[in-house]
Amino acid sequence: MASDPIVVTHPLLQHKISLVRDKDTPPIIFRMLVREITQLMLFDATRDLTLTDRDIETPMQKISAPVLAEPGPVLVSIMRAGNVMLDAALEIIPTAGVCHIGIYRDRDTLEAVEYYFNAPDDIADRALLLVDPMLATANSSVAAISQLKARGVIDMRLVCILAAPEGLRALADAHPDVPVYVGALDTHLNEKGYIVPGLGDAGDRSYAT
Ligand code: PRP
Ligand code: URA
Repeated sequence: MASDPIVVTHPLLQHKISLVRDKDTPPIIFRMLVREITQLMLFDATRDLTLTDRDIETPMQKISAPVLAEPGPVLVSIMRAGNVMLDAALEIIPTAGVCHIGIYRDRDTLEAVEYYFNAPDDIADRALLLVDPMLATANSSVAAISQLKARGVIDMRLVCILAAPEGLRALADAHPDVPVYVGALDTHLNEKGYIVPGLGDAGDRSYAT
């Protein structure tokens, strides 16, 4: 059975999500907010990363201290809009690997169009964090996860800022094994497949296109 999304409810996060929704927020502030939102969401979404002990010496004494196990996680950007979240995630997990998946929605059919894939060779053996601000129909994330599973990946979770119930159902049907972290659960999709109340087109708002 499909699991429920994990809704991250911190007040700072909710505050920033409200600002990012505002249609008058310009691209430079939009990207800054997406960056901050991503880092707040990763606090929850990275809780199960594996630690290992390393010998270090503080100014006081030698200790065995926890550090991220290697190889570290792989951050997966579902482009284009995922790239803003990717850069934010790399700031706090600088040793992470990176995977870019190029996918856009056909404006008429809403089907996912796949145009690019680039990943580390050992991706199947690593923990993956997929980032994409929007989960609308879920066609894009379902396609991205299918591409990763076809390459042997098992351990992954998806981080989205906004999600629609329709997309969450579709994702849970297609990939019930993949946990999804969301910043806010919106009410529905409109007739053009946009999330309502949403924030509009995340790629366009990020890059002023
Ligand atoms: C946006 C968004 C998601 C997708 C969500 O990308 O970043 O990838 O739409 O919609 P879905 O759940 O219905 O698939 P878009 O297609 O606008 O591509 P872009 O980021 O390259 O502009
Ligand atoms: N993609 C977006 O960028 N926004 C939506 O509302 C739906 C899909």
